[in-house]
Amino acid sequence: MVKKIILDTDPGIDDAMAIIFAEASPDIELTALTTVFGNATIENSTRNALYLKQKYQLKADVVQGAAKPFLRAPVGATTVVHGEKGLGNIEAPEHLEVEADSRPAYQYIIDALTAEPGEITLVAVGPLTNLALALEAEPEIVNLVKEVVVMGGAFGESGHRGNVSPYAEANIYDDPHAADRVFSADWPVAIIGLDVTEESFFSSEYLDQLRDDAGEVGQFIWDVSRYYLKFYSQRVGLQGCHVHDPSAIAYVIDPQLFTMRRGPVRVVTEGPAAGYTIQKFDQRNYMHDEWSGGAQLVGVKVHSESLLELYRQTVISFSQSR
Ligand code: RIB
Ligand code: CA
Repeated sequence: MVKKIILDTDPGIDDAMAIIFAEASPDIELTALTTVFGNATIENSTRNALYLKQKYQLKADVVQGAAKPFLRAPVGATTVVHGEKGLGNIEAPEHLEVEADSRPAYQYIIDALTAEPGEITLVAVGPLTNLALALEAEPEIVNLVKEVVVMGGAFGESGHRGNVSPYAEANIYDDPHAADRVFSADWPVAIIGLDVTEESFFSSEYLDQLRDDAGEVGQFIWDVSRYYLKFYSQRVGLQGCHVHDPSAIAYVIDPQLFTMRRGPVRVVTEGPAAGYTIQKFDQRNYMHDEWSGGAQLVGVKVHSESLLELYRQTVISFSQSR
């Protein structure tokens, strides 16, 4: 069955790769891109989403969301990873033919979930501010969503603990208070964190091959990834990049690619470990226990070869259908 999704995103190079993947997949109906600050300012995130909508004739609505975190002081756009305006060396044109929906993203999310109860999966691949704002404005959405899938967090599996601080992943670090609300709300959340996204790599050769095999779409993915690969090679020492946001889309298409562990999740919201995500996965009764209200799923293993092949084949088929 085709899954309807709203993709909450901060495009962002790997966000662009995920948006293309979602649009390309015959198993997904991409109904909206709701934007959030993060990799870029909210204005650039939204412009980048609109650019992709125009470029690939997406039916998805584009809706602008939060410009800053729920409570914490903003940490600023991640220009070192994603470039000055979010898409590396690619610049979206100043003037575009398509426009954003007039509602704020959190209201759009509430309206969409209310209009189609139980039908829509929310996939969030940026800071979780829009989802937290939607929960605050309309707590009933916990009963209206089909599932929430989040790229974010790091739980220490296979040694993956953080990418912007020793114990925090970027999306969660950018808005830990929002993440804690989203993870501890009583709705089904699947978390695809660094534990699995850093186990899959788009190598330099993989991206070259995709450029050669997937027409204009492959070329665009190659072009947009140049800045990202430079960052990875200079700062991380890798000739390629991790597969962050596309992994959340892969989970929607085929959850069997991942091994998931069940248990409630909380987020450290203040201090040097702000953004640290912790899952309680034992069954013990403790005297003091604030890990309740939600049995979330956390990705702990991934079949990365199958995931890479799924991405490749999906994008190639998409390019051939255009
Ligand atoms: O840590 C990886 C995440 O941070 C991805 O969503 C990427 O786009 C950045 O926002
Ligand atoms: Ca992102």
